[in-house]
Amino acid sequence: VVRDDLAVLSSVVASQEALHAVYDGVVPEIAARAHFERILPVTEEAVQRSGIDWAELDAVAVAHTPGLAGSLLVGLTAAKTLAIVLDIPLIAVNHLHAHIYACRMAAERDIFPAVGLVVSGGHTHLFQCRSAVDFELLGGTIDDAAGEAFDKVASMLGLPFPGGPQITRLSREGDAAAHAFPRSFLNDDRIAFSFSGLKTAVRYAITGPGNHDVHSVSISAQQRADIAASFQEAVVDCLVAKSELALRRTGLERLGVGGGVAANPRLRERLAAMTERLGAELWIAPFELCTDNAAMGAIAVEHLRANNFASLRCDIEPGLLR
Ligand code: KG4
Ligand code: ZN
Repeated sequence: VVRDDLAVLSSVVASQEALHAVYDGVVPEIAARAHFERILPVTEEAVQRSGIDWAELDAVAVAHTPGLAGSLLVGLTAAKTLAIVLDIPLIAVNHLHAHIYACRMAAERDIFPAVGLVVSGGHTHLFQCRSAVDFELLGGTIDDAAGEAFDKVASMLGLPFPGGPQITRLSREGDAAAHAFPRSFLNDDRIAFSFSGLKTAVRYAITGPGNHDVHSVSISAQQRADIAASFQEAVVDCLVAKSELALRRTGLERLGVGGGVAANPRLRERLAAMTERLGAELWIAPFELCTDNAAMGAIAVEHLRANNFASLRCDIEPGLLR
């Protein structure tokens, strides 16, 4: 529950990490069922904790795109029902725009126009954000998301899901220059990312050539740390280089960053150095607003002001990127 001055009155997150950890990644069907079971108790708890009454709500916002179809459908159906029952408008929010908007929430002033980078478990994309309600996709990953790569590499190194925080921890003991892992598109002028080749390179760094089974070999603690640090550096190099390219190409002087991977300290440090060199402002979402949460749906406040309401016929758009 958020107020129109962006104060977060309550933020309740029902984490599914434990449900997916056994599989080393998100299982869409399990995600949808968990959403279905938790959506009503979580919504009730959020309103209760906010200290305001249901009747005081001005609108209900929901992420309808992009994402896993089953989960989006549960959220959209619940939000439409609330809108009908409370007789308030529905606001449909783009999940990626909301991730970027999370950095506006701690800024205490407008940060747009800006380049927006979203780095999460499902997406790695750069946007030109002309205003809080006018985003244009500049480019993004052609295969895996950065967070997904963190999760899969962690799994190969025998670390639990989600892998981002684990790799971050292990990297501190490792040498980032130990392995020259691939950095796709680094030296060309496309705003694009690719992390699947990097995952394969990590696999062979663990097993040696010709062997696909990471569990058939045992490597030392130092080797694992070196692989983690070298992997992290390769991802960060790409994210920083393409953010810089987007800033230069658009001529914008602010960079806003959100999504789970934005919690990565090395990424934060390198983005700070790059933006300082360019004389640009850097806004990164606060830690608690980096990984998935509903508070970042506060971007709906901007839509409310702009009278951007959704029809009750509004549908989910799982694969759409815009
Ligand atoms: O934004 P998010 O909660 O989910 C999606 O919308 O996809 O991001 C989750 C992702 C996971 O892949 C997780 O490994 C990654 O964010 N992550 C991190 C860190 N903390 C979470 N990646 C790198 N470093 C971290 N410290
Ligand atoms: Zn997300």
